[in-house]
Amino acid sequence: MKQLIVVSNRVPSPDKDSGSQGGLAVGVMNALSRTRGLWMGWNGQLVDDAEQHAPESYENEGVQFATFPLTEQEHELFYVGYSNEVLWPLFHYRSDMVEYSREKDAGYQYVNERFARQVAGQIPEDGDATIWVHDYQLLSTGHYLRTMNVENPIGFFLHIPVPPWEVFRILPHHERMIEHLCAYDTIGFQTATDLRHFLENVERSGVAIVEGNTVIYDHRRINTGVFPISIDVDTAREMAEKGEQSSRSKRLKDSLQGGPLIIGVDRLDYSKGLYKRFQAFEQLLENTHTRYGNVTYLQIAPLSRTGVERYASLRRELERVAGHVNGRFSTYDWMPLRYLNTGYDRETLMGFMRQSRVGLVTPLRDGMNLVAKEYVAAQDPEDPGVLLLSNMAGAAEELDGAMLCNPFDVEEMADMLDAALSMSLEERKERWQRLHRVISTNDIHRWGESFVTALDQSAAARHADGQ
Ligand code: G6P
Repeated sequence: MKQLIVVSNRVPSPDKDSGSQGGLAVGVMNALSRTRGLWMGWNGQLVDDAEQHAPESYENEGVQFATFPLTEQEHELFYVGYSNEVLWPLFHYRSDMVEYSREKDAGYQYVNERFARQVAGQIPEDGDATIWVHDYQLLSTGHYLRTMNVENPIGFFLHIPVPPWEVFRILPHHERMIEHLCAYDTIGFQTATDLRHFLENVERSGVAIVEGNTVIYDHRRINTGVFPISIDVDTAREMAEKGEQSSRSKRLKDSLQGGPLIIGVDRLDYSKGLYKRFQAFEQLLENTHTRYGNVTYLQIAPLSRTGVERYASLRRELERVAGHVNGRFSTYDWMPLRYLNTGYDRETLMGFMRQSRVGLVTPLRDGMNLVAKEYVAAQDPEDPGVLLLSNMAGAAEELDGAMLCNPFDVEEMADMLDAALSMSLEERKERWQRLHRVISTNDIHRWGESFVTALDQSAAARHADGQ
């Protein structure tokens, strides 16, 4: 049986909450649970000499893992530096935040090559393996695998958005990035917009030719497509039902004193729009006296990428605005905004989501946003909450039934929050049914299967062509 080797920088750690791990870990774990898969990646540890460490193998929830450490310097240049101070802001359209240096660039290439070496060492002896590389930290890994004469099917999926040409071309050596991507057989994106931007970037860079959805580079044909990541809907619903019965959920419910709950669950990241979200909540309290003393907004925001300065400064700003809102509106027995940096297991989070009247998911830019889909799956069909979703999230291209808002328009968000809190049961049910139909049709298993099928087909066509 063919082996599927998944490669990503972050792998889910058994003792970590999902909130800080992001959508990749949750989505890929769900997709791999039904396949005979091997997942390779960084083990989250830093050592003096990473080259001395053979990958450590273990099994978690039926999936095989092979993980390895990075050195302090690799972490600084590859992870903090190039991945999160160059690519992450640029791909989220924040060119003002890009801090490029040649040293970071070289560190990124070096670690991508090291990932490739580790992967090449795990290909089974009969050679029968499909390799699936994930996300912006590993854009060049496929290229290095090809230089090591690995001719297996190699695919790439980008979990984050693709910026348009005028933003993309800010990246020094963007032509080289496109060249490296041309080593893959299949490249997948979250949305049609991302795919369109990618094809335009390829064309404008002059590196390769675009024919429909195919990129032609040096006689190689690279197949591209849209594969919106999703969740395991049944598992999420079961978790929510169980989570709602937990003592934490009960304590949360008691503490609300019968008032409605608004919930947000995000990594603490500037792309998530938390600052404007807090301002919108403040505006809601200012506008509507009926909400005063009654509504509670719970924002769970586990810390993320603490070594990156932008994240540290965002944390300070959020603490300030949260303190301001509570100082301004709290009474001796009511605190409107509960802002916490603790992460919780998924069952607890889903249980909290099920109790809430509004799910607030308002990123300024997001590849997909699986919290939006989890929120829908967690709801009680007889009394569902309302999803207030940013029109800048990839999920907005799919989730017909959500209330869509512009996350830059604080006043609009405040009005929409008010409307969501007042929405009739009939409308809530009607919207939820539409949303549920979408996530049930395209669930996580379909995502994984359709990508791997497209990848194997594309590689088979390459071999048939004698390439
Ligand atoms: C997003 C990215 C992932 C990343 C995750 C958590 O979901 O798409 O690639 O793993 O955030 O970020 P971190 O830097 O902690 O891995």
